[in-house]
Amino acid sequence: MAEFTLPKNSVLTEGKTFKAPAGTTNIRRFEVYRWDPDSGENPRVDNYELDMDSCGPMVLDAILKIKNEIDSTLTFRRSCREGVCGSCAMTVNGKNTLACTKAIDYYPDTIKIFPLPHMSVIKDLVPDMTHFYAQYASIKPWIETQTPAPADTERLQSKDDREKLDGLYECVMCACCSTSCPSYWWNSERYLGPAVLLQAYRWLVDSRDENTGARLDELEDPFKLYRCHTIMNCTDTCPKGLNPAKAIAETKKLLVQRKLG
Ligand code: SF4
Ligand code: SF4
Ligand code: FES
Repeated sequence: MAEFTLPKNSVLTEGKTFKAPAGTTNIRRFEVYRWDPDSGENPRVDNYELDMDSCGPMVLDAILKIKNEIDSTLTFRRSCREGVCGSCAMTVNGKNTLACTKAIDYYPDTIKIFPLPHMSVIKDLVPDMTHFYAQYASIKPWIETQTPAPADTERLQSKDDREKLDGLYECVMCACCSTSCPSYWWNSERYLGPAVLLQAYRWLVDSRDENTGARLDELEDPFKLYRCHTIMNCTDTCPKGLNPAKAIAETKKLLVQRKLG
């Protein structure tokens, strides 16, 4: 039977409050999930008041300001700060997103920042992505061919074939979609989840790939693919505006078409 209460050592406690310096007039409040596995303490939510006159415009800027000026132990991932590396994925005011692409002004009031949901937390805002990446590797996210490569050129694509990858190649594997998917929450051991399935579809429709049959065989499984119940959280949350639910539906269509011959 599913358990809906948190284990005792995961229950949130009240954290510290860091007030803005006296005289600050342009203040925003941030509540940030904190957990240090070495402390032996429960997770807590710290409150930070930041001076917006000396802070960049994005949520990631606020997090960097906290780390640089208030509490250097705050732990999170980030790299590109422009929405292309996918590493700053977290939950901001209840929705998974990339902190570097979300403006602070988008949120009207206090900004609540938590790690991606339903993942083990390594520390603070850093989730354990090991299983997610292993699932990604399982779909062989690289071109597979049987014919020899042309001697004096790359494997070329027509313009139309290249366009089939639009809406797919832009995925940055941030996991915002998978960690917003109820089916993935309950079955992540066996269900691949929307991010990995979008990537699987990206290789199914790549005209240069010559392993489509084997790729479809791998996906034809009651759990890997068919746990998607079209709840659409994935598409709603994707910070890159992609549509994993559609990619999943198209994959199911390819399987039906193959059956019908
Ligand atoms: S589909 Fe969107 S939300 Fe999902 S991993 Fe790719 S970029 Fe992130
Ligand atoms: S559409 Fe499918 S993959 Fe997307 S959130 Fe719903 S169940 Fe998950
Ligand atoms: S830091 Fe790279 S996507 Fe946000």
